[in-house]
Amino acid sequence: MISLQSFGRNLNAVVVGASGGIGSALVCHLLACHDVNSVTAFSRSEYSIDEEIPAEERRKLRCLNIDLMSEGSIIGASALLEETPIDLIIVATGILHSTEVQPEKSLRTLESDSFSVVMQMNALAPMLVAKHFLPRVNKQGKSVFVALSARVGSISDNRLGGWYSYRASKAALNMLLKTFSVESRRTHPHLIVAGLHPGTVNTRLSQPFQRNVDPEKLFSPPQSAGYLLNVIDLLDTKNSGGVFAWDRGPVEA
Ligand SMILES: NC(=O)c1ccc[n+]([C@@H]2O[C@H](COP(=O)([O-])OP(=O)(O)OC[C@H]3O[C@@H](n4cnc5c(N)ncnc54)[C@H](OP(=O)(O)O)[C@@H]3O)[C@@H](O)[C@H]2O)c1
Repeated sequence: MISLQSFGRNLNAVVVGASGGIGSALVCHLLACHDVNSVTAFSRSEYSIDEEIPAEERRKLRCLNIDLMSEGSIIGASALLEETPIDLIIVATGILHSTEVQPEKSLRTLESDSFSVVMQMNALAPMLVAKHFLPRVNKQGKSVFVALSARVGSISDNRLGGWYSYRASKAALNMLLKTFSVESRRTHPHLIVAGLHPGTVNTRLSQPFQRNVDPEKLFSPPQSAGYLLNVIDLLDTKNSGGVFAWDRGPVEA
């Protein structure tokens, strides 16, 4: 059973990217958690909740639309947030591949349009969510803003090369989160800002790259989401600006 007792009150949580593998598992765990009062689930694609989820949990959920490639859509989404202050924001969106984007195997395939899409989606978009949702964040006691990053964004840990755009976008995200943590300390002293590495998780994003992954190291989305919520519960203000893996270990820059 997931616990988020460190916040000291029942939480109003926001998940951006509820249609994703990890995002949808986070929403399910949050709905089932007794410490959670409401969950606002933003997604680009229509998102429908598992029909087996009990009615009392479903009543906590509000589903809304967002397109992170448009700042106007993010502004519109922020205007739809309830007046109730938000305690926890999780940005669980991201792109590694699509019909237009393929992770680069070598410098020869680096290309400006797809680089820009990946940077906008993985680095800029979570920060625009931070920019427009911050005024709704609870200033009383612990509050958390996290975005899903990736260990491949670590410069010191880069031994394999490749994936230029994705690696650069996650390294940039980590820097942006650190910068935001420094600034927000002045106005929101109890807000913890962090990046989270979910492990290698069996989702659409990782699907084409799972061949060499040890099955024991390939997490299911509910497994990873449970680990991430445990990390969130253990975060405190000393951790703000850092990047942490699913097992709470720090991811070095
Ligand atoms: N899976 C892994 O092994 C792994 C490892 C390390 C880090 N991560 C990180 O974890 C995060 C979540 O990944 P995942 O594995 O859950 O991937 P996923 O299942 O592919 O989910 C990606 C999510 O991003 C959303 N998204 C993409 N473009 C969007 C846009 N313009 N506006 C709004 N939403 C948009 C998708 O929405 P649609 O449903 O509309 O496409 C989907 O909800 C990513 O940041 C990823 O880099 C994953």
